[in-house]
Amino acid sequence: MPATVIVGAQWGDEGKGKIVDLLAQDSDLVCRYQGGPNAGHTVIVGGETFKFRHLPAGILSGKQSVLGAGCVVDPGVLLEELDDLERRGIASEPLKISGNAHLIMPWHIAIDGAGERRLGKLRIGTTRRGIGPAYADKALRLGIRVQDLLDPKILRQKIATALEEKNVWLERVYEHEPLELEQVASEHERFAQRLRSYVADTSLLVDTALREKKRVLLEGAQGTLLDLDHGTYPFVTSSNPVAGAAATGIGIGPTRIDEVVGVSKAYVTRVGRGPLPSEMDDELAKEVRELGQEFGTVTGRERRPGWLDLVALRYAVRLNGITKLALTKLDVLSVFDELKVCVAYRLPDGTTTPDFPAHQSDFHHAEPVLEPVSGWGEPLDGCATIADLPQAARDYIQLVERALEVPVTLVGTGAAREQVLAPA
Ligand code: GDP
Ligand code: IMO
Ligand code: MG
Repeated sequence: MPATVIVGAQWGDEGKGKIVDLLAQDSDLVCRYQGGPNAGHTVIVGGETFKFRHLPAGILSGKQSVLGAGCVVDPGVLLEELDDLERRGIASEPLKISGNAHLIMPWHIAIDGAGERRLGKLRIGTTRRGIGPAYADKALRLGIRVQDLLDPKILRQKIATALEEKNVWLERVYEHEPLELEQVASEHERFAQRLRSYVADTSLLVDTALREKKRVLLEGAQGTLLDLDHGTYPFVTSSNPVAGAAATGIGIGPTRIDEVVGVSKAYVTRVGRGPLPSEMDDELAKEVRELGQEFGTVTGRERRPGWLDLVALRYAVRLNGITKLALTKLDVLSVFDELKVCVAYRLPDGTTTPDFPAHQSDFHHAEPVLEPVSGWGEPLDGCATIADLPQAARDYIQLVERALEVPVTLVGTGAAREQVLAPA
């Protein structure tokens, strides 16, 4: 597995953090290729819970960790995360940050929040962490990059230039207090002091590791259906979680990627707004939310559960070139005698399709074609391998494998690191 991408195959929160933590045990380098502190990856090891926002989960095992050029970095949040880990005895030295990654600045957070308020009923339901405005400024070539932290003069000048424009927007468009140059600049000079030792040429670092035949994990944040280009626009994030973006986000060629592990729940959840064809009715959703503890890591918002959506999952296999699937949270379905899976969408014109609709109106109005499947109705705690699972659970996994034409190689049966089953 020299270079393996771990990608969310649904709408985020599939359990990527847990799978990355597990695979990191056998890896040398773990890199995040996009996203920012909108991510929340929970890892539970030895009864202790770690919630990662910025950091690749590999840092927990002391593995060399990289934040690639495709990430957006909120320096205050990152430092808090590093401090928290240090307090818990986890060293931060293995971290290296690309100088090309962009900074999330205070105006990005202010504009994200104010923009959502202005949209009212039409809001996206963002995490309000400044993600969209930071990526927008990157594309506008108005962004401030991590490497700008290395030169106090450049940093102050860039902040001053940006604020001249941003304060006009904040005051006139968003009715928000203007930001003070002195305050923002001095705060970021302090961040710079602390972050400068982590800044490195991470593209070179990863390339060197691959040449030395080291094992590299490339960790995506969010999920395929939240991809800016291929997700359920506009209810998406502002970067590309799909596996192809791992190459650009890190700065290696696509030919270097050997394996793509998709991570999917045994059902589906979405947080924030936007269509979710296989969404469960309120009562069932409440039960699954409680059983699966489906509350956002970052915002604490309720996640919206639905039945496993094979149409969306097949789309994720196509978009990412998924070679293996990790199916998490199978245990959450253990209480049900009967389950459902979404095998096709019924479109407004009355036709049904197994393919993800290319047109947004078709998707927005798609009705799920749900097929009943037997549940296993018993806990999975005693199982040591996939072969030990009850027959109905194995049938469920086989149904997924057949529909996707991809093997399920890991199965989650609980939140802790060791609660993952592999084939016998
Ligand atoms: P990520 O954003 O993809 O890393 O996923 P999150 O960490 O945001 O959400 C997944 C949640 O499910 C976390 O609370 C995990 O601890 C938990 N989790 C992961 N895998 C399993 C599993 O197999 N079973 C159960 N019950 N919980 C799991
Ligand atoms: P992880 O990495 C689930 C969702 C938000 C919102 C939309 C846009 O933990 O899987 P943004 O703040 O990115 O502009 O919000 O994307 N979203 C996530 N949903 N998991 C995430 O990350 C998410 N990151 C963003 O809820 O609908
Ligand atoms: Mg999450």
